[in-house]
Amino acid sequence: MNRPNMDAYWMPFTANRQFKRAPRLLVSADGMYYTDADGRQVLDGAAGLWCVNAGHNRRPIVEAIQRQAGALDYAPPFQMGHPLAFEAAEQLVAMAPNGLTQAFFVNSGSEAVETALKMALAYHRVRGDAARVKLIGRERGYHGVNFGGVAVGGMAGNRKHFPVTLPMVDHLRHPLDIAKNAFSRGEPAHGAELAEELESRILTLHDPSTIAAVIVEPMQGSTGVILPPKGYLQRLRQICDKYGILLIFDEVITGFGRLGADWASNKFGVLPDLLTCAKGLTNGSVPMGAVLARSAIYQAFMDSAPEQAIEFPHGYTYSAHPLACAAAIATLGVYRDDGLFQRAAEMAPHFEMAVHALQGKPHVKDIRNLGLVAGIELEARPGEPGKRGMEVFLKCWEQGVMVRVTGDTLAVSPPLIIEAEHIDRLFAVLGQAIEQTP
Ligand SMILES: Cc1ncc(COP(=O)(O)O)c(C=O)c1O
Repeated sequence: MNRPNMDAYWMPFTANRQFKRAPRLLVSADGMYYTDADGRQVLDGAAGLWCVNAGHNRRPIVEAIQRQAGALDYAPPFQMGHPLAFEAAEQLVAMAPNGLTQAFFVNSGSEAVETALKMALAYHRVRGDAARVKLIGRERGYHGVNFGGVAVGGMAGNRKHFPVTLPMVDHLRHPLDIAKNAFSRGEPAHGAELAEELESRILTLHDPSTIAAVIVEPMQGSTGVILPPKGYLQRLRQICDKYGILLIFDEVITGFGRLGADWASNKFGVLPDLLTCAKGLTNGSVPMGAVLARSAIYQAFMDSAPEQAIEFPHGYTYSAHPLACAAAIATLGVYRDDGLFQRAAEMAPHFEMAVHALQGKPHVKDIRNLGLVAGIELEARPGEPGKRGMEVFLKCWEQGVMVRVTGDTLAVSPPLIIEAEHIDRLFAVLGQAIEQTP
């Protein structure tokens, strides 16, 4: 295939100069595989970017989008509606953790996070508790790239160019403790006590009555697959309840089956007050995200304003876009019809065995996994953090396997339709790449 002119496109989160010298171009996809510009088949070990949970080119989703594009291309979402928006919300809520009864649509994970943070702040205000203005995030958290998400996030590299974000924010420590938990399978045993610092450190420094919400990813995905220690999330929930603080779970990665259950909230048995999702909501096919909220939160807004007033002045031109709604309804149908969350749980033991077989390979410092996600952390080369990880990633690509790399951690999160033979190939190629990388 002729290489396109690459000058004009400023690529996101990409080493532009390196990429444009040796591009990795994808031109089509089906099932577990991408086809690249050279016609090579590439096994998708990353579900695109943690989003193609039902596998590529699923006919019910493709056809729903095609049909919708020909029927209603766009409908304004403010003071107007279209039937699919209501149907998509109903179906999403039917699949949501019990107790989350309202869906607010947005177009990405980042927008879902901004929306949830604003909802939390406004919720306290409409209840007459306007002093609750502070937000608590976590070190090594990733909540997208907008100002609120960067402020509560804790991914050092993503913050350093943007020293001014939101005031009134503090951070919990992250729970990764390789010294105590290396090579844990599933939730690590040690570290639940780290949740205590919400009460013992953060709430001591800040008057608890000034805190609006705590936001965490139940599993920190983008900074290297960091799982919650047993009992940790439960303890966060208890402390938030004690002080009237909202708990937000950012399930942009963990939603829709990734951890071998529909939601991390259900996997860990902890119900948040607000939940953000995106990615798997449309199987990556059309941009869409959502915030799910408890009914008491919705009701507080409804009760706070006269009937002709807009209760929550927030939303996007493309909130509940007809194509996205059609894609979401079809995607949720595929998840249900194919029993994909159950399937993820069934494949998880084989996946776990295969990833932990990499223990003992050169420079492998830790392996972490749950459901159909795994992180393989390598020792950083002295003075060159991230370089070894990138080299392993590139070797996998050369061998026809696509994974994710973040620093020196390789992340594997395949579509939930993966078969045992794909798992074996994925980790065989990854293992070889690790062995061949000095
Ligand atoms: C937990 C979490 N929140 C938010 C986001 C941002 O989502 P988006 O890239 O769709 O804005 C991501 C993206 O990976 C994520 O993992």
